[in-house]
Amino acid sequence: MIKRIDHVAIVVESLREALNFFQETLGLALEEVAPEPEQHVTVAFMPVGDTEVELLEPDETDSGVARFLRKRGEGLHHICFEVTDIDAVLARLKNAGVELINEEPVTNRLGWRLVFVHPKSAHGVLIELYEAPRTEG
Ligand code: CO
Repeated sequence: MIKRIDHVAIVVESLREALNFFQETLGLALEEVAPEPEQHVTVAFMPVGDTEVELLEPDETDSGVARFLRKRGEGLHHICFEVTDIDAVLARLKNAGVELINEEPVTNRLGWRLVFVHPKSAHGVLIELYEAPRTEG
């Protein structure tokens, strides 16, 4: 049911400075930089093979990502796994008493259904689970 790592997200103070390392020095390719207003972040998408590194710069001081950055500093923010049946995965996690950020999947503007697992239940790592929209016949 867990298919692959879709992306690894890293929270940074400044996208410009982070890109100086991840793009210029490390050599990852930058696909695009785009605002994600619903998460109050600007994201730099950097594809690597069939997965992606995402750099997150919070753009509001009271957002969840901004609080994370203040509290824990720069570094790994979350790992996102693509799943084939998010309802089945969610049922299994609930059954096991896992703490979730959202009890039901939320749908983003691209039609993906998302659930976040609280780091308390995942050994300190925020985990995002996502199911891609089913493509019409
Ligand atoms: Co994500």
